[in-house]
Amino acid sequence: MSAIQVENFSKEFRVGFQMRRLMAVKDLSFTVEEGEIFGFIGPNGAGKTTTLKALVGLLSPTRGRLLIFDRDVRQAASRQTLGFLPEEPYFYRYLKGREFLDFCGQFFGLPFPFRRRRIEEMLDLVGMKEAADLPLRKYSKGMLQRIGLAQALINDPNLVILDEPMSGLDPVGRSQIRRIILQLKEQGKTVLFSSHILSDVEMICDRVALIVRGELRQLGALSSFTPGQTRRIEIAADRVDVERMRQAGFPAVERDGALFIQVESEDSRDRAIAEVLAQKGRILSVVPQRESLEEVFAREIR
Ligand SMILES: Nc1ncnc2c1ncn2[C@@H]1O[C@H](COP(=O)(O)OP(=O)(O)OP(=O)(O)O)[C@@H](O)[C@H]1O
Ligand SMILES: [Mg+2]
Repeated sequence: MSAIQVENFSKEFRVGFQMRRLMAVKDLSFTVEEGEIFGFIGPNGAGKTTTLKALVGLLSPTRGRLLIFDRDVRQAASRQTLGFLPEEPYFYRYLKGREFLDFCGQFFGLPFPFRRRRIEEMLDLVGMKEAADLPLRKYSKGMLQRIGLAQALINDPNLVILDEPMSGLDPVGRSQIRRIILQLKEQGKTVLFSSHILSDVEMICDRVALIVRGELRQLGALSSFTPGQTRRIEIAADRVDVERMRQAGFPAVERDGALFIQVESEDSRDRAIAEVLAQKGRILSVVPQRESLEEVFAREIR
């Protein structure tokens, strides 16, 4: 059984006075397996939030079908073991952090003793114990994001869907969220999250879907993303002369006492190595550079 199945999902909105049609998501299909950390990326307006909202039953598909643990998301039962952090969580700003979590716990019908223990565990997990008795209106963006994550986990869900969980967080906060997500995976849970912060996605996701203007562009493990035409190779050498390498047609830069030469094909790699050796230089390393997620992203959204 897959945790999530999205089958030919399309969503059309009607916008403006003339009710113009806007296809926010077009024929999107993907599955998320149980126990995976799945990243959902794409530029602004790509359709990420629309898809996540459809998955948690907040909007209905124009076409297609969405399943959570084999249950159609139109059935309320599909949300029993689901946790969700919305993009712009609507919070009751006069409630204190702890009261807010209690409110959410009651919403899920969690019995009092369990709820009380769980609230303290969640406050601890997201590092919000000290601010638990401040009203939410006094929280910073990062604090709201943390309490929102605590809220998403309060019912101990098997599947956690997070819309931009790292947004508004400083680097320490982001690494804490990454750690929490990895911890959820260790507990056997499934996590689907959207993000603009590609390095965070690169660090923790098993698989990634890239969506652009409502359409799926890339899907799979990062290592399987189709490389661009050029695959760079970096050669490090020493005991060679920068100028002579440049004259031989190899742009080289000096760094930390070594010379770094970037080439874009296996053929020029071999010629660069031959040139270094001809100069009685020494090869320190030859490293193929995997295209970064950022490069894939930049290439795909053009
Ligand atoms: N309720 C709505 N009514 C009309 N259009 C909408 C509605 N919700 C979203 N859209 C449009 O659908 C498209 C996709 O929006 P969506 O919020 O899903 O993008 P996103 O990938 O989450 O972007 P971001 O990275 O900025 O959060 C956008 O063009 C948006 O304007
Ligand atoms: Mg969004």
